[in-house]
Amino acid sequence: MTDLNSRYGLNPPHSEVVNACQHIQPCKALDMGCSNGRNALYLSQLGFHVTAVDKNANAIQMLQSIVEQEGIANIDARVYDIDQAGLDADYGFIACTVTLMFLNPDRVEAVLADMQDRTLPGGYNLIVCAMDTAAHPCPVGFPFILQENQLRAMYQGWEMLKYNENLGTMHNGAQLQFATMLARKPA
Ligand SMILES: C[S@@+](CC[C@H](N)C(=O)[O-])C[C@H]1O[C@@H](n2cnc3c(N)ncnc32)[C@H](O)[C@@H]1O
Repeated sequence: MTDLNSRYGLNPPHSEVVNACQHIQPCKALDMGCSNGRNALYLSQLGFHVTAVDKNANAIQMLQSIVEQEGIANIDARVYDIDQAGLDADYGFIACTVTLMFLNPDRVEAVLADMQDRTLPGGYNLIVCAMDTAAHPCPVGFPFILQENQLRAMYQGWEMLKYNENLGTMHNGAQLQFATMLARKPA
């Protein structure tokens, strides 16, 4: 597979997206908060039909220019504000990696409910999000931060293929816990 991420100076795909693809067959996928497309490009190369959304028009423009230069037919990159919680299609896989914590906290419940509604039966949600816990208070002022077991509780009835709240390190060396969840909706 051509390494498009390197060719365009993008980071490699998120490791949890790579891991999720061990479990998920190519299908219609949504990359929520795609930035300039490191995960969307990876998914498209595996054969997923990817809708990639971000509120940052410059990031979408950059991804769109890669799509055009490479003649990629299976990425639809669009400007969209996730806080609207108004997805207009159904997906087999929705990925939301390190994006939830930038949302309006008053909208997160609606956003997750919308993601769940818009996941096809037997489909998957992948979420990676910063946490704030007694053991590891979050050192970054994200608008939204998950509490212990909060994400798991919001996915009751879904099969947990992966769930942990492990300690991680940010680019600047700050340590904080991240909730990592790959969950499957009942078929
Ligand atoms: C840290 S980046 C993560 C990018 C990507 N998911 C990844 O794994 O590399 C967070 C992204 O979320 C986007 N974002 C933040 N709030 C958003 C919102 N309300 N609607 C859409 N995108 C949003 C930002 O523009 C940014 O590109």
